Amino acid sequence: MLVSAKEMLNKAREGHYAVGQFNINNLEWTKAILLTAQENNSPVILGVSEGAGKYMCGFKTVVGMVKGMIEELKITVPVALHLDHGSFEGAKACINAGFSSVMFDGSHYPIEENIAKTTALVNTCDVLGISLEAEVGSIGGEEDGVVGMGECADPAECKAVADLGVTMLAAGIGNIHGVYPENWAGLSFETLEAIKAQVGDMPLVLHGGTGIPAEMIKKAISLGVAKINVNTECQLAFRDATRAYIEAGKDQKGKGFDPRKLLAPGFEAIKATVKEKMELFGSINKA
Ligand code: 13P
Repeated sequence: MLVSAKEMLNKAREGHYAVGQFNINNLEWTKAILLTAQENNSPVILGVSEGAGKYMCGFKTVVGMVKGMIEELKITVPVALHLDHGSFEGAKACINAGFSSVMFDGSHYPIEENIAKTTALVNTCDVLGISLEAEVGSIGGEEDGVVGMGECADPAECKAVADLGVTMLAAGIGNIHGVYPENWAGLSFETLEAIKAQVGDMPLVLHGGTGIPAEMIKKAISLGVAKINVNTECQLAFRDATRAYIEAGKDQKGKGFDPRKLLAPGFEAIKATVKEKMELFGSINKA
């Protein structure tokens, strides 16, 4: 069964750890993340960007695949299926398709429009028991063709959006999607503290979880971050493991060309990456 992210994130905030959102791209990715969560008794959030949703043949296919896997793999830890950086229309489509959590990313709209569109989704999500993530201040870098400059959120705007009744809030604090540039200035803890002072107990979301040094992750959690998104790190691990397997020529030998064998090293690499992140975020044995 899929659950809303609300309870797992409130527990995480109270317990001073964070739940990982790991983005999925295909069956192997999904299976690797679900099995790792189960083996480590950790709650987990499966993130789906609109592009990944299209790639996997649409949101209904994703819901069917994830629900089927939860049943067949006997997954008992809490799993939320979450739209990542959704448009207004995308959020509505995911709600209709059976997602248990959605992010509406209105950060590129003027704040009034972000508030109006977020408000329109708050009631629907409330009635259906779906968790809703909103965003204020953009996350830098490129994701699914969307390029953000990365601008720190205004704490007063964060409060205005948090007060609408969303479940969790993503606020830009200097974080970036993808690989961090060498001259990256780091997270702005000053901004994070100011936001926390305004939004109180609202669980905060840290996007761009790839490549943020462990000490910064821990400090962010101590300041109210309860959900951390990871995508690029799994992609890099998958690519490196697949490349190493092919370059070693193993796919040419025996049944090495069998796609199940070809994708196995990448699958294991995702499992290892997810476990490492769950250890860092402190979510192991918190299911
Ligand atoms: P990374 O690109 O750092 O993995 O961030 C992913 C993310 O924030 C998805 O919303």
